[in-house]
Amino acid sequence: MDFSEDDSVDAVTASFADTPDPRLREVMDSLVRHLHGFLREVRPSLAEWERGIEFLTAIGQKCDEHRQEFILFSDVLGASMLVETMEAARQSGGASGATGEESDATASTVLGPFHVVRSPERALGDSIDSVGTGEPCLIEGSVSTPDGTPVPGARIDVWQADDHGFYDVQVPDAQPLGNGRGLFTADDEGRFWFRSIVPAHYPIPTDGPVGALLTATKRHPYRPAHVHFIVEAPGHVPVTTHVFVAGSAYLDSDAVFAVKQSLVRDFAPVDDPDAAARHGLPTPFRRARFDVVLQPASS
Ligand code: BEZ
Ligand code: FE
Repeated sequence: MDFSEDDSVDAVTASFADTPDPRLREVMDSLVRHLHGFLREVRPSLAEWERGIEFLTAIGQKCDEHRQEFILFSDVLGASMLVETMEAARQSGGASGATGEESDATASTVLGPFHVVRSPERALGDSIDSVGTGEPCLIEGSVSTPDGTPVPGARIDVWQADDHGFYDVQVPDAQPLGNGRGLFTADDEGRFWFRSIVPAHYPIPTDGPVGALLTATKRHPYRPAHVHFIVEAPGHVPVTTHVFVAGSAYLDSDAVFAVKQSLVRDFAPVDDPDAAARHGLPTPFRRARFDVVLQPASS
């Protein structure tokens, strides 16, 4: 039988019929169905299809050890957030990954490309900022389970951009490596606190094909100000998340769709010299509270 528009899906899915791994077969069948449906809907000319292939090629060519343009593409398409949301529902034993149902645990959001394998280990109360140009702040919180049981010894890995919107790895001449990063261990009551500066909003990298796509579609590249967290403890489902700064620009239009209202916190000004002295901060400073709830892992 000749290949035809009407039979294209059947012809190609049949070619995968002997795939031994049932999950791989399911994925390939679905990919073919949706890709052919997309092509029948869009009806690209051959020149347009070649342009699309060139775009994907450019994305691959932009990737190296430090730059992952495919993840950025997934981020700006909302695909990273969709997978993240479904994974969180699955991990929490929610009704199903398909519903994206929220659990009592702290909401997760994208990891992003600026996490390093190991943040510098720091003591509770330390500052993660060693540059000193930004507005000082204190971030404090606790780690507990949904029933309020503290999780002593939880590990809290944090990283953030500076007051100009850059991560240390982006501007090694302006920030020492490890600036804006810290790995903390919660105390016996599951509490943590550290000093930092209020982060700024910033653009995702735009010097590649994803940036060109944003320009061509008149989308801005900005993310609202945030601090990244990974919180984990043995016997609990880890969470990768952010705290967003209330009032930041772009909270309503994050370029990677990662804002969840439950993660937005006031970084309220504090004009209390005693509190400032207790934490080694100048007066005034800003203070945010972020209590993290981890789901116990199902055994
Ligand atoms: C970030 O928050 O670090 C980030 C997330 C997605 C794309 C680019 C940056
Ligand atoms: Fe970030």
